[in-house]
Amino acid sequence: MMKSQFKKAFIFDLDGVIVDTAKFHFLAWKNLAESLEVSFSEEENEQLKGVSRINSLQKILEWGNKSISEDKFNSLMAQKNEEYLAFVDRMSPEDILPGVLETLTYLKENNYPIALGSASKNARHILTKVGLTSYFDHIVDGNEVSKAKPDPEVFLKGCELLGVEPEQAIVFEDSQAGIKAANTAHMLSVGIGDKAVLSEADFNFEGFTELTEDTLKTLTNFKK
Ligand code: BG6
Ligand code: MG
Repeated sequence: MMKSQFKKAFIFDLDGVIVDTAKFHFLAWKNLAESLEVSFSEEENEQLKGVSRINSLQKILEWGNKSISEDKFNSLMAQKNEEYLAFVDRMSPEDILPGVLETLTYLKENNYPIALGSASKNARHILTKVGLTSYFDHIVDGNEVSKAKPDPEVFLKGCELLGVEPEQAIVFEDSQAGIKAANTAHMLSVGIGDKAVLSEADFNFEGFTELTEDTLKTLTNFKK
């Protein structure tokens, strides 16, 4: 595919950026950690955001100094996902975070290429539940990558599919791992959420309601 040098493209993380599923992941991991007698607070949770399911369970086991059989590991992963999906089942377009639809609509109307770059294997299912699939030119999710964030593979694949260089990509992320991934790949990193937590991002916003048309123009004109 021909790569235009000047065009900008947008890559959205899903959990905690487009929808507030981060709280469902938190609840499911907390239950699991407590069943293993591993303490789990918001602080530990921050370190799991953006991290794949398998790496998240490995981290919890490390924190608790636990070693378990492969069978037990696999059954815990399945149990966590089942619990998480019970929350997801109740989702609808009302769960789209404020300002997201307006931003996606503006970007679509202005012909910006848009991709999803998520660690989640449930990403397509969630986009369907909230009715946003058609906004994305390409979807890269946890089923298509072998290296989890903070490795930039997921975003690099997104750029490849969108036909842009990494330097042309603007990434929206709510996790430290995701901001690291975008920065490593020389993309413009935009932190959505707590600025203190996402201090490595190039730009920070509490949420998409802060992203006016002027702000989006600033992002597209910014040279890193
Ligand atoms: C990320 C979340 O988007 O996806 C993580 O921030 C989650 O919390 C990861 O563990 C994997 O998601 P899933 O849906 O495949 O378990
Ligand atoms: Mg996220």
